[in-house]
Amino acid sequence: MIKINENYQKLQASYLFSNIAKRVNAFQQANPDKSLIKLGIGDVTRALPDACVKAFHLAVDEMAQDTTFRGYGPEQGYDFLREAIAKNDFQARGARVEADEVFVSDGAKCDSGNFQEIFSTDIIVAIPDPVYPVYVDTNVMAGRSGAWNAEQGRYEGLVYLDGNRDNGFIPDLPDRPVDLIYLCFPNNPAGSTATREQLKQWVDYARANKSLILFDAAYEAFVQDETLPRSIYEVEGAREVAIEFRSFSKTAGFTGTRCAYTVVPKECMAYTEAGEPVSVHALWNRRHTTKFNSVSYPVQRAAEAVYSAEGQAQVKELVGYYLNNAKYIREKMEALGYDCIGGVNSPYIWIDSKCDSWEFFDRLLNEAAVVCTPGAGFGKCGEGYIRISAFNSFDKVVEAMERIGCIL
Ligand SMILES: Cc1ncc(COP(=O)(O)O)c(C=O)c1O
Repeated sequence: MIKINENYQKLQASYLFSNIAKRVNAFQQANPDKSLIKLGIGDVTRALPDACVKAFHLAVDEMAQDTTFRGYGPEQGYDFLREAIAKNDFQARGARVEADEVFVSDGAKCDSGNFQEIFSTDIIVAIPDPVYPVYVDTNVMAGRSGAWNAEQGRYEGLVYLDGNRDNGFIPDLPDRPVDLIYLCFPNNPAGSTATREQLKQWVDYARANKSLILFDAAYEAFVQDETLPRSIYEVEGAREVAIEFRSFSKTAGFTGTRCAYTVVPKECMAYTEAGEPVSVHALWNRRHTTKFNSVSYPVQRAAEAVYSAEGQAQVKELVGYYLNNAKYIREKMEALGYDCIGGVNSPYIWIDSKCDSWEFFDRLLNEAAVVCTPGAGFGKCGEGYIRISAFNSFDKVVEAMERIGCIL
């Protein structure tokens, strides 16, 4: 008899996006002539930078000739991309990352979901709340949680790191020892950013407790404040205790093109039952080369073009465009009397809805025909907030804020 992984039975159905879709469909059926403005999901709307498109085309042409054709590439990514990443994203900012510590992949979703596989199932995992739901669900699937506690609205056995108004959605250190720590800055959904000093506390904690930090920096490109770190490796000691996930999705519009990478410094260690250190780099290399067969050559060439002078200017413009939307949304919501976090150094604006998050969602949908995301979908601490995303055209953002202004 084929048996299932029972841990999947513990998973709570992700009602968030299906519930949103259901409500949006019902609204559209009842109001066929009202145009909806979607500021809900975190998907980009603008085209790939021209430099990437050109490099993409050229690489496809290479694939069309026997003499320049490429088959399987190195599983970890081509050297040209790994070197460009190490040099431009880290060394140029004074952070030591070597090209062979960069593992190119087809998404930070897969990497942040898969990385836990190389660790024991009996470790204690600490996860922020609210946060990108992948970290919780993949640990539940792996059997690192107990059952769902409906009363608490949380899984047993996981350590939740609460974000709230008091800590500005930068969670405090856990009150007990934990082994694996997920951090996400700029935060999805709260848009909060951590300072060097705040990250240093986490790094020091991890060093003291022999724990490991999985740092998701998918939104680092939106950090404009030069005093804020864009990488955890800008913090002293991080190379011993932190892995970093990055993505070209939000930086350069690659959500449909798919390219990301994970940095695994050679100093990072995890431990055997007997307490012997084992290189995390070696473990991840083994896992990655066994289960992954590299990102397509044209996509890696397109990603490399992000680092050309032309690419850098275009990416800057793209990120600046969304940040301008974010600033506009935040200013308008604040003028309407709502407390906001994010929208600065982040494409997400996290708004205290002063009521139940689904109630506020319904109001914006039914009265303004604007779609946002209810904060409760990102964890218990998201209740009472909504997330508005800056990923849309400026015209649509202006119209959405006009409509919202008329109903609030
Ligand atoms: C925090 C965070 N990490 C990772 C991802 C996924 O990135 P990718 O498109 O590279 O899979 C997202 C996407 O929304 C995200 O919000």
